[in-house]
Amino acid sequence: MCGIVGYIGYREACPVVVNGLKRLEYRGYDSAGISLLNTDAGIYKCKGKVSDLEKVIEGNPVSGNMGMGHTRWATHGEPNDMNAHPHSSFKGHFIAVHNGIIENYGKLKKRLKEEGYDFKSETDTEVLVNLIEYIYLKWEVEAETAVRLALTKVEGAYGLVVMCTDENDKMIAARKSSPLVIGIGEREYFIASDATPLVEYTKNVVFLNDDDVAIVSRDEFTLKTIENDRLDPEIHELDLEVGDIDKNGYDHFMLKEIFEQSRSIHDTFRGRITPEMDGIRLGGLYHALPSLVKAKRIIIISCGTSWHAGLVGEYLLEDMARIPVEVEYASEFRYRNPVLYKDDIVIAISQSGETADTLAAIKLAKESGATVLGICNVVGSSISRETHGGVYTHAGPEIGVASTKAFTAQVTVLAMMSLLLGRERNVIEDTEYVSLIKELREIPGKIETILSLNDEFKRFAGLYKDALNFLYLGRGYCFPVALEGALKLKEISYIHAEGYPAAEMKHGPIALIDENMPVVVLSPKNGSYDKIVSNIQEIKARKGIVIAVVNEGDNVIKEMADHVLEIPKTRELFSALLTVVPLQLLSYHIAVMRDCNVDQPRNLAKAVTVE
Ligand code: AGP
Ligand code: GLU
Repeated sequence: MCGIVGYIGYREACPVVVNGLKRLEYRGYDSAGISLLNTDAGIYKCKGKVSDLEKVIEGNPVSGNMGMGHTRWATHGEPNDMNAHPHSSFKGHFIAVHNGIIENYGKLKKRLKEEGYDFKSETDTEVLVNLIEYIYLKWEVEAETAVRLALTKVEGAYGLVVMCTDENDKMIAARKSSPLVIGIGEREYFIASDATPLVEYTKNVVFLNDDDVAIVSRDEFTLKTIENDRLDPEIHELDLEVGDIDKNGYDHFMLKEIFEQSRSIHDTFRGRITPEMDGIRLGGLYHALPSLVKAKRIIIISCGTSWHAGLVGEYLLEDMARIPVEVEYASEFRYRNPVLYKDDIVIAISQSGETADTLAAIKLAKESGATVLGICNVVGSSISRETHGGVYTHAGPEIGVASTKAFTAQVTVLAMMSLLLGRERNVIEDTEYVSLIKELREIPGKIETILSLNDEFKRFAGLYKDALNFLYLGRGYCFPVALEGALKLKEISYIHAEGYPAAEMKHGPIALIDENMPVVVLSPKNGSYDKIVSNIQEIKARKGIVIAVVNEGDNVIKEMADHVLEIPKTRELFSALLTVVPLQLLSYHIAVMRDCNVDQPRNLAKAVTVE
């Protein structure tokens, strides 16, 4: 995934584009570049971050009120100055930035070379911009037509913005699978990969759909299909504020987002629990509710942290609604020829709403006739528009690559869905239903209590920041949290960590235990507490280091473990929402102490929009 920002209007384009790229850097950031159409249509680009690009720009007269920029997450050609975007065409008529993969770029490149085209970079994007120029010159058509015709020859994914040096009063944007949004201002237009760079300029946006082509000039914006049919743009009003996308005094977006979880869960509840706290309303499921209530099977498809949330969802839905649930990695589901029935309910969980594997799995499920629902955090994202209905998590923009508040928001939505379906299917009786809703409403306050222990978690982090491996163990609802805690540590501190069902230790992994192995054991007082106590004893018997997440006042485990992280008690059903918070903070502090780039960990992107 990468970041694209385009601007055309009355302002100096450079600061608009550069500041916009900074807001998008979380999407992919191995190199960056900018091009403004003015006197020289100069292209300035380099390996590294947007801050490195700013140093390149400093020494050059970059001015003009039309231009575009790109932060890259390489797919074809290593991250270096030459492969960075923007890319200009061989004869200089076009400049392009691109998000996605041109799958038939090899065949196209060979054909263009036969026509005398030469290439400076190893990217698929340069092939695309040369194809556009080839068609433009050979068939003597307008720039917009050349772009549309070229795209009909392309296989793969693109979010594309093109400028033509012969027509320097318009920008052309096109989308297939990789997101693009158009911001509509007063005599100015913006193009970006998502809404975060636009929010300080305009709230009015149009989300491009697959095969849309937008022609954007200073005074007007035309939307067409790739086949040249005019479209009426659907204008959305953003509910984002600038404050939502700033660090607001925190050192990192990840820490801000961990601390936002009390508020973000409130926002997930907002308007969905009756004032009398005796009912759940999920409007996005309204049409699908009859099918959900009588569902014989629910299949959850997702990736990464969202897959861990899906695993919690399996436990919740089977426990409270007694509906069989299967949880699938979207990347496996889409290729393994799964058995699907028309009355299956498929739920896609995705923070970004742009994950390529999840999108592909959705399309496969829709082809089988199943009802497909989404749980997404980004309004207007591809997944939210591909599915038959769903529930937005309303966690607010999650900028840190490591997902935190999105996870707890996803689990909250799944808990509300399970309560709603359990009630509709007469599995949960009234008093229990009201009691569970009341307890769910207590979760934000309990998270605040855990967050107040941040300094203690930081102290523990200092003790183990140099460990080479970690194990995370949990049972029941805490097993998916063990997986999530291990992923958090891995992806931001680069320490190897594994999550396991605690009982699984005796089937092999216990051989890993020695005096150098920190083992985080999730041990809230619930149905499997006694078993977890035995697991802790087994680890201590082999000199392992036990960091136990326990309920406040648990003196039994306090006697046994090397360290305890105390959290408030809650119903077992909701324990994932609380036990995950100490693990988020532990991994955050370890990563910071290891001087890792917490918000933009190496090799990662916020959303994986390529396979
Ligand atoms: C989580 O911390 C990771 N950044 C990653 O596993 C992420 O959850 C995964 O790529 C899925 O993203 P999505 O929720 O946007 O689909
Ligand atoms: N495939 C293009 C490249 O490798 C675009 C990658 C991206 O989405 O940033 O340059």
